[in-house]
Amino acid sequence: MTMTDLENISADEALALLRWQIGMGADEAIGTDPVDRFASAGTAWHKAPVNPLRAEQPAAPAPEPRALPPRPATASMSTDEAVLAARYLAHEARTLDELRRAMDGFEGCGLRSTAKQLVFADGNARARLMLIGEAPGRDEDLQGLAFVGRAGQLLDKMLHAIGLERHDEAPERSAYITNVVPWRPPGNRNPTPAETAICRPFIDRHIELAKPDIVLFLGGVAAKEMYHTRTGIMRLRGKWRQLKTDNGEFKTMSSFHPSFLLRSPAQKHLAWQDLLAVQAALEASDT
Ligand code: URA
Repeated sequence: MTMTDLENISADEALALLRWQIGMGADEAIGTDPVDRFASAGTAWHKAPVNPLRAEQPAAPAPEPRALPPRPATASMSTDEAVLAARYLAHEARTLDELRRAMDGFEGCGLRSTAKQLVFADGNARARLMLIGEAPGRDEDLQGLAFVGRAGQLLDKMLHAIGLERHDEAPERSAYITNVVPWRPPGNRNPTPAETAICRPFIDRHIELAKPDIVLFLGGVAAKEMYHTRTGIMRLRGKWRQLKTDNGEFKTMSSFHPSFLLRSPAQKHLAWQDLLAVQAALEASDT
């Protein structure tokens, strides 16, 4: 059948054709000619035709479905392939629960095999303030919750000082806490650029689905990754910046990581200034 034939068939005929193809085992949208999708990565891949089977579904309110990943994510795939797979899964998630399930089943990041479990978040997902650190440590890995170790205890005190408790039921009095990378790097080393790149679609979608009024990045690793910059935290901290994701725009600031403040308490006064700025911004945009 030629392309012209295909253009002239009715919806019922197209559906019957698709059913026939599925019955024959052709359940993936692939062509007969090989396509080098990575040659055009970053420009055209997201414009690739969507799987016609998906196009049968009613339009969803959230983002347009992306091209199918070449194959399910596995630990052996390249970084580029893993990023594509993560992007696809992240964009498919319509709720935080769906996102958590997608991340839990994702095998494209090697950290997953050394970590005990996924650390998705902690706190109130409806909070107006979202805090994002670097990656889980030992305590977080054991408990499956973000910022529950010593750094987390200091973070709770910092939040308390501006009238917030992570588990408060009220969005305006609570905080939602997560990390750029959701699996503990072995020995608490910094995540590699490849690991953060692979996890990036998940954290972007996490922010989009949580819809916070303000996002605070904790520490240089998180801030540099999220802003795609090499500027250090000393110069980044305390400044408001807009963060654009594929489907949203968010007001953000960065400040010191609580672990750094435990080691360098003399810097707490600067972190305090940042927290006061966040508090004032929350109050100013209170409705
Ligand atoms: N440090 C982080 O960046 N995140 C945590 O969850 C704990 C410690």
